[in-house]
Amino acid sequence: MVSSKFHVASAIIVVLGLLFLTAAECRKPISNTVKYSAINCRKHSALLTDFGAVGDGETSNTKAFKEAVGHLSQLAYDGGAQLIVPPGRWLTGSFNLTSHFTLFLHKDAVILATQDESEWPHLPALPSYGKGRDGPGERFSSLIFGTNLTDVVITGHNGTIDGQGAYWWVKFKQGLLNSTRPYVIELMYSDQIQISNLTLVNSPSWFVHPIYSSNITIQGLTILAPIEVPNTDGINPDSCSQIRIEDCYIVSGDDCIAVKSGFDEYGIKVGIPTEHLVIRRLTCISPSSATIALGSEMSGGIRDVRGEDITAIDAESSVRIKTAVGRGGYVKDIYVRRMTLKTMKYVFWMTGSYGSHPDPGFDPKALPEITNINYKQVVAENVTISARLDGIHDDPFKGICISNVTITLAEKAKKLQWNCTDVEGITSNVTPKACDLLPEQKEAVDCAFPEDRLAIEDVELVTCSASTPFF
Ligand SMILES: *[C@@H]1O[C@H](CO)[C@@H](O)[C@H](O)[C@H]1NC(C)=O
Ligand SMILES: *[C@@H]1O[C@H](CO)[C@@H](O)[C@H](O)[C@H]1NC(C)=O
Ligand SMILES: *[C@@H]1O[C@H](CO)[C@@H](O)[C@H](O)[C@H]1NC(C)=O
Ligand SMILES: *[C@@H]1O[C@H](CO)[C@@H](O)[C@H](O)[C@H]1NC(C)=O
Ligand SMILES: *[C@@H]1O[C@H](CO)[C@@H](O)[C@H](O)[C@H]1NC(C)=O
Ligand SMILES: *[C@@H]1O[C@H](CO)[C@@H](O)[C@H](O)[C@H]1NC(C)=O
Ligand SMILES: *[C@@H]1O[C@H](CO)[C@@H](O)[C@H](O)[C@H]1NC(C)=O
Ligand SMILES: *[C@@H]1O[C@H](CO)[C@@H](O)[C@H](O)[C@H]1NC(C)=O
Ligand SMILES: *[C@@H]1O[C@H](CO)[C@@H](O)[C@H](O)[C@H]1NC(C)=O
Repeated sequence: MVSSKFHVASAIIVVLGLLFLTAAECRKPISNTVKYSAINCRKHSALLTDFGAVGDGETSNTKAFKEAVGHLSQLAYDGGAQLIVPPGRWLTGSFNLTSHFTLFLHKDAVILATQDESEWPHLPALPSYGKGRDGPGERFSSLIFGTNLTDVVITGHNGTIDGQGAYWWVKFKQGLLNSTRPYVIELMYSDQIQISNLTLVNSPSWFVHPIYSSNITIQGLTILAPIEVPNTDGINPDSCSQIRIEDCYIVSGDDCIAVKSGFDEYGIKVGIPTEHLVIRRLTCISPSSATIALGSEMSGGIRDVRGEDITAIDAESSVRIKTAVGRGGYVKDIYVRRMTLKTMKYVFWMTGSYGSHPDPGFDPKALPEITNINYKQVVAENVTISARLDGIHDDPFKGICISNVTITLAEKAKKLQWNCTDVEGITSNVTPKACDLLPEQKEAVDCAFPEDRLAIEDVELVTCSASTPFF
């Protein structure tokens, strides 16, 4: 009985639905709904085209993006809003996000960064850096920027954001920049951030830069830059806590991931570490830089970093610690396991003399503390030098543990495979045999990796939907 009633009811619904669809079809394309995963769904929804945007790749849509976010920010505390970027090529300058907000890119949406400098507002230098990285002037605001926000999602079904960086790379190389180049995405002083399932290409400089922020989920990013262009780091968590970076594929002219926390006396003064970071299932191509760099700006401290299932196909090194006298701060409690590496200049690299200072005002007595560094289960092929580990004189890098590592050398491998100075620690089951400063243990040692989970790993994603007439 129940089921036959149900059948009659659903038949009526289907017939009504077909009538409605037929009617709707005459007016405009059928509205479709897609689903996506996010930390929060939104009550309200709008299309970029509702604000006069034109997706021809030539018309500037900066005003449309600003008006859209301005309008939707009024709904932040009424269930929040999502802005849907439909198929098309949407040229824009820098724009700001708001809280309880989702920017959703359709799979065929391309946000194109304008090369018109007047569309990029300037921001003051970051307090933990003291000055910009590219020049004495201010910094250009990032393409997608937000500050003092909570609950921000930038996602899409692999839609694209193109930084059109060529203009900036040339200007940088010619020394013509007074202000620091923009990034693709920067969020400052924000909590609850998700950046996922997007393709980011050709950033003017770094791609994704969360700073002074927390509770950050980054998943499924494809990040692509030509391997010879300057400073195109993939993801740079900087003075942030509780960060989860998973399933990213990065090809870069600089570090695939660079973990940071401020520069010399400025970073020491601000004193916000990057801590509780997990990086898993990263694939990196970076022939002239690191798969994961820790530093060189680490003056606020870097601790509790966990990396696992890391693949590098052609990289200068796997994990690299970069620091210098004057940085202060620390890099400690670093745990990395299960790396599969191919074509590497160095497998392990630590540099205590990175140099580069914001200004001569740094404190030469501010020594970094590098301790409790654990690497295990590493297989590397076609390697030129197994390890180059340079600590600091009178400030050795301590507590290094490297276990279960098999390195196969390249045809043109160097004779000295483990070149170590001012480091202390142990190795176990490592080939080729390590340096005397990291003696092979008689009894097998399994270097540490934490068993607990970070709070950010327990954040559950919910299924949200977005509809547009375009899907
Ligand atoms: C990203 O896309 C994958 C594959 O479609 C999906 O399984 C995952 O839930 C998505 N994650 C997020 C955070 O959007
Ligand atoms: C974004 O916000 C910052 C800080 O409030 C502001 O300086 C900047 O001009 C804003 N950018 C745009 C494009 O409105
Ligand atoms: C460079 O930036 C500095 C600091 O903001 C400013 O004083 C100077 O005028 C700028 N120079 C040029 C050429 O724009
Ligand atoms: C953003 O937060 C920082 C740190 O709490 C604070 O110093 C700054 O004044 C805030 N900025 C705005 C625009 O609210
Ligand atoms: C996303 O797009 C990039 C660039 O086209 C492609 O390489 C990648 O495989 C795509 N990722 C997914 C999950 O479809
Ligand atoms: C991060 O999220 C947790 C859990 O929701 C929350 O307790 C914490 O306050 C958040 N961190 C910050 C700095 O807001
Ligand atoms: C091995 O590494 C060298 C660079 O050191 C590279 O030129 C060569 O193509 C690599 N060989 C293989 C088989 O990947
Ligand atoms: C050593 O590393 C290899 C390759 O990552 C792995 O298969 C093996 O289980 C590891 N052994 C131990 C004792 O951890
Ligand atoms: C070993 O490393 C030092 C730097 O600590 C470098 O100066 C030296 O050239 C390296 N030696 C070899 C043989 O590669």
